Amino acid sequence: MGLLDDKVVLVTGASSGIGEATALAFAAEGARVALAARRTDRINALADKLGGDTIAVELDVTDETQCHNAVVATVEAFGRLDIVVNNAGLMLLGKIEGADTEDWRRMINTNVLGLMYMSHAALPHLLETKGSLVQVSSVAGRVARLGSGAYNASKWAVNAFSESLRQEVTARGVRVVLIEPGMVATELGDHITDAAAKEGLRKRAEQMTPMQADDIARAVLYAVTQPPHVAVNEILIRPTDQEQ
Ligand SMILES: NC(=O)c1ccc[n+]([C@@H]2O[C@H](COP(=O)([O-])OP(=O)(O)OC[C@H]3O[C@@H](n4cnc5c(N)ncnc54)[C@H](OP(=O)(O)O)[C@@H]3O)[C@@H](O)[C@H]2O)c1
Repeated sequence: MGLLDDKVVLVTGASSGIGEATALAFAAEGARVALAARRTDRINALADKLGGDTIAVELDVTDETQCHNAVVATVEAFGRLDIVVNNAGLMLLGKIEGADTEDWRRMINTNVLGLMYMSHAALPHLLETKGSLVQVSSVAGRVARLGSGAYNASKWAVNAFSESLRQEVTARGVRVVLIEPGMVATELGDHITDAAAKEGLRKRAEQMTPMQADDIARAVLYAVTQPPHVAVNEILIRPTDQEQ
């Protein structure tokens, strides 16, 4: 018996890092999993590895129609929706002065609007199943740093939106869970366009022992496997040697 037998889960950003690890952890507990991301080669390979109770759904979360369609595809495939993990995200670090503002738009469209579209599309189904909505934010949603202003702003928005939604739906049995990781060893930093910021992140990572994606997957699993009267609202989880 798995902890998530019969549960249906939709994970965004399931093609790498925390999303992939979470999808694997959920499948190992018996969940039926919809893997969503833009890189279909990656999610198709993961779906093949996980077998029958898994589907791969091409999804760009910046497109509201695609968010709606991903939810519909999941419910059509499995008949219900119990858990959504809003994990898709970008961290395009860099100073504000002289920034390429296209980086800001990409982060706001993905980290904020994408998560909002997905929450909106999934909500009717989660209300039906008294399900859980897991919002992957960051320590950056709680602690602002020089060189991280736009990313901080995007994750601050995730925290505010999620707390407001929690108050709106918790009495109706939907649990909104905010996950706030510190440094995790994933591909996230590879997409940074500002060379100095990319190098700064690399040096910072060298000063600590970053967490692994699986460390976060275990935290997500803990949050969504509590008894119905227990709502894990927020998990802030850092490497032991990360000071800020
Ligand atoms: N790594 C860390 O240190 C850390 C710390 C705190 C919080 N987080 C958060 O954790 C989440 C996952 O990041 P990660 O560290 O696992 O990095 P990652 O390996 O780069 O994963 C990011 C995922 O987001 C997906 N994604 C990006 N843009 C997308 C879009 N427009 N539509 C759909 N999917 C999109 C990517 O898939 P495709 O490219 O295939 O679409 C990928 O699967 C992010 O929200 C990040 O902010 C990470």
